[in-house]
Amino acid sequence: MKILLDETQIRDGVAALGRRIAGDYRGRPLTVLGVLTGSIILLSDLIRRIDVPLRVGLIQASSYRGRAVGPGALAIDDRLLPDIAGRDVLLVDDIFDTGRTLEALLDRVRQERPASVKSAVLLWKEGRSAVASEPDYFCFKIPDVFVVGYGLDYNDEYRHLPHIAALEESEL
Ligand code: IMP
Ligand code: MG
Repeated sequence: MKILLDETQIRDGVAALGRRIAGDYRGRPLTVLGVLTGSIILLSDLIRRIDVPLRVGLIQASSYRGRAVGPGALAIDDRLLPDIAGRDVLLVDDIFDTGRTLEALLDRVRQERPASVKSAVLLWKEGRSAVASEPDYFCFKIPDVFVVGYGLDYNDEYRHLPHIAALEESEL
């Protein structure tokens, strides 16, 4: 596995993102909504870098892709979704690849009548987007390779790696 982003790069990128978000949401009723499971590490690091009052919520998206990249039907589990009506919501996910997951989640979140909804991701995979919208905030653009670590998985493994690594074709 080749390390694409090490712990220091991630820490600095997340800290910078947190400062930006804090500046944008000062004095507003912010709910940071983490997307399970891939965002767990980013969510816990990012919220500690957003120096304004906020609430934390969770929503789950599973795409049932058996292998690494094959598309699958998206299932959203909203049983953990808190009351976000009238609040500013920041949806936080691990990666923007085709963008379909984030788009479906944004649609679902908008049904709750929040005051606003924006999205933030750690990684933005270049040249893969299949939707019209783009993430509002991101830390790093990466090339079109399959990555794991810092929350991102391959068959539910590798999420615990403290860095972001690229899996070789032979490892997939
Ligand atoms: P999208 O709907 O194509 O944007 O895919 C988003 C979801 O696919 C992410 O939340 C990840 O769970 C998964 N995903 C996409 N690319 C990668 C990758 O390189 N490594 C691990 N998971 C990925
Ligand atoms: Mg995943």
